Amino acid sequence: MDKNEEVIQLLKTYEQEHIVQLLEKLEGEKKEKLVDQINKIDFHQMMELYENTKKEIEIKENKIEAIKYLDKEKLTKNEKEKFEELGQKIIVSNQYAVVTMAGGQGTRLGHTGPKGTFKLDVYGKGKYLFEILAENLKEANKKYDTTIPWYIMTSKENNDETQEFLEKHNYFGYDKNNVMLFKQGELPLIDTEGKMLIGKDLKIKEASDGNGGLFLSLRKTGMLADMKEKGIKWIFIGSVDNAILKMVDTTLLGMAIEKNVQIASKSVLKANAHERVGVFCKMNGHPKVIEYTELPEQMAEEVDNNGELKYGESHIMCNLFTIDAIEKISKEPLIYHSAFKKNSYIDENGKEIIPEEPNSYKFEAFIFDSFEIFDDIAILRGKREDDFAPVKNKEGVDSPKTAKELYEKYWERQK
Ligand code: UTP
Repeated sequence: MDKNEEVIQLLKTYEQEHIVQLLEKLEGEKKEKLVDQINKIDFHQMMELYENTKKEIEIKENKIEAIKYLDKEKLTKNEKEKFEELGQKIIVSNQYAVVTMAGGQGTRLGHTGPKGTFKLDVYGKGKYLFEILAENLKEANKKYDTTIPWYIMTSKENNDETQEFLEKHNYFGYDKNNVMLFKQGELPLIDTEGKMLIGKDLKIKEASDGNGGLFLSLRKTGMLADMKEKGIKWIFIGSVDNAILKMVDTTLLGMAIEKNVQIASKSVLKANAHERVGVFCKMNGHPKVIEYTELPEQMAEEVDNNGELKYGESHIMCNLFTIDAIEKISKEPLIYHSAFKKNSYIDENGKEIIPEEPNSYKFEAFIFDSFEIFDDIAILRGKREDDFAPVKNKEGVDSPKTAKELYEKYWERQK
């Protein structure tokens, strides 16, 4: 069987005859590109993900318990000093790196362009989110007399624009040789009949595989090897859209080392029992972030002996991993969550269809699903006003307006 026939056979096995028809119409480079793409797709995995969308969510008998945490505010002087000393040692000996996850689409914010290129209206002149992150890292570099390698995860869609933007702004004064961009992975979009969508470029339409795609892409793009070569031991992984994110927190790092864990995470207390955030817990003995939609109401409202929410530690995408943990996770596929969304596509007559209703599934992995691979993680409770100013929505909660206020107040307090 020649290569072409093999591809056709593969498509037929997975009932993708519409792609066979497309292949037959294409010639030359266009055809080659599509064949290349088909050869890279794991059709078995994709069909399994599609089949899963039809299954009822399994309600297992899960044992959910509260998780232990340390409150940064309540640490003793000794604990604080010890953590800081342990953390600083790692940073000054160049064993620390930072990854910014900037591959998201930022659909809720509605900003055209990568989210890091959004200008937050602070102090009159405004600052881009990438600028805020660069300033934060530059300050740490100055403090510890080092240059922290900064890895930025982009998507196929926003990589070039991100690169051009950073070049144009001279990486906001960050040492360019220490800024590494890498692209996250993508997965095909599948319609309700199990057919992969075709895009305008006459290829199978793919979309980013979620922030949990980070681990595999760190390995696949050679970034993990680069970190190893540099002697990195601890990696901070944070989001692009928290205007007061602390990427170099020696207390968090020192606590992780002292507790001898592979992952540490900063939390903030839930604003109220029904805030729509994921919270930390232990499920069947393993650390986990449970989505607000999955936390039974009675548990969401449960308080401990001090009258505080028992499941009150929210996950704010502020995580530290050892390099070994990243390597381990990159080899253990995370589960994919499916989201039913509106996605345009090209129909069998070559016409572009822009659906008015959701028509297809997008598959995404989440970074926090990696926690349960481990027996334990360490959690440090920070303070909302010091650690969390998200830019998520165009208006209302977690919007540029609330982030600006939090940012300006935070810096006012540092004076
Ligand atoms: P969110 O899940 O809040 O997504 O990302 P988003 O793209 O910023 O916004 P919406 O949901 O489309 O409105 C949390 C962090 O994870 C990154 C984002 O860039 C952000 O830093 N992310 C998300 C990725 O890097 N890749 C993805 O595929 C998804």
